[in-house]
Amino acid sequence: MIDRQRVTELFEKHVCQTSPAPLGIVVDRAVGSWIWDVDGRAYLDLLSGIGVAGIGHCNPAVVAAIVDQAPRYLHSLVYGESVQAPQVELAGMIADLAPGDLSVSFFANSGTEAIEGALKLARKHTRRSKFVAFRGGYHGDTTGSLALCDNLVYRTPFEPLQFEVDFLPFGDVAALAGIDETVAAVIVEPIQGEGGVRIPGDEFHPALRAACDRSGALLIHDEVMTGLGRTGQWFASQHWGVCPDVMVLAKALGGGLPLGAFVSRPELMRELSDDPPLCHVTTFGGHPLSCAAGLAGLRFATARALPHRAERQGRLWLDRLRPYVGDVLVEVRGRGMLLGLEFATADLTARFASEAFARGLILNWTLHRDTVVRLAPPLVMTEQETDQALGIIGEVLLSIAG
Ligand SMILES: Cc1ncc(COP(=O)(O)O)c(C=O)c1O
Repeated sequence: MIDRQRVTELFEKHVCQTSPAPLGIVVDRAVGSWIWDVDGRAYLDLLSGIGVAGIGHCNPAVVAAIVDQAPRYLHSLVYGESVQAPQVELAGMIADLAPGDLSVSFFANSGTEAIEGALKLARKHTRRSKFVAFRGGYHGDTTGSLALCDNLVYRTPFEPLQFEVDFLPFGDVAALAGIDETVAAVIVEPIQGEGGVRIPGDEFHPALRAACDRSGALLIHDEVMTGLGRTGQWFASQHWGVCPDVMVLAKALGGGLPLGAFVSRPELMRELSDDPPLCHVTTFGGHPLSCAAGLAGLRFATARALPHRAERQGRLWLDRLRPYVGDVLVEVRGRGMLLGLEFATADLTARFASEAFARGLILNWTLHRDTVVRLAPPLVMTEQETDQALGIIGEVLLSIAG
């Protein structure tokens, strides 16, 4: 039995506090779309642990795979030295699902670590040093990824950052003329998540692909949030029929365990094999437990055609939310089960989030846009749970509008 007061005190005293106002749920267990606290209170998780639990919390197939793998081996050798069945099966499955010839994966422990690897690959391949990223983008918090973020609130305390980065306006085709032969890679989220669930016009991604082809810059798609079915396709790039040179995955990839990957063409990935030897390695990246969990999760998602379900469910959520659009909720947008609720002011956004939380919904506003609440519910959410969530959202919207 967990002593709520004791663990809360330990949390505040000994765990580095990074949030000014943590939700502070003392978690007892999480199953499917639900998280329970130690007092037995149930919360419907409309964030999926922020994009992780697409197949639901503690998916039984994932738990069974962990239980099967754990007694065999947890760790054998550093990355790339031994053949580990869960890792290679997962890499094979990613290759089957990925667009184009993106068929070789490097597994990391997290999204930001996978981004760092993709940046190294681009520098090594092009021998160029500059990157292009987009305003409002988010790629993680290690120093290389942070260099790709234009938000001064987050950048300034850590400057100088390690890369020269040009920032272009997201979705602006004319601005892509700024991509020239000095650029190693352009990195983009196909749909910006933390920037406020922003979906570019249909011409943007093909034009960006063309600009990279013209200049010889690699095109890196950050699909950490959008990948693995969330937006209604396996990968969001498929909405526009564009294949990047490198695709970065994490979050849902490990089925709930820590796992990231950057994925590219064989000839590009071969460049990490030498000059220098061991030029990109990691001790725990592609951990067998994470890969076994991720493989089980991906098999589950494939067997249930979860991208298709996300597409259908997403349309239902948009249809049910759009009637509330007015003076308080000014826009609802999304692709699949990645939805953005844009409010008239940051104050209204915060009121909505806190009242929804008080009524048992886990949701929050986005990191770089405090007028947008992002919803990323589990792709397996049932009809009854969906009705319940939408019912509460409707009540809260009416109460703050009144
Ligand atoms: C688009 C995107 N890229 C990268 C990251 C960083 O991933 P991680 O937190 O696993 O380092 C995130 C995390 O939210 C993200 O949303």
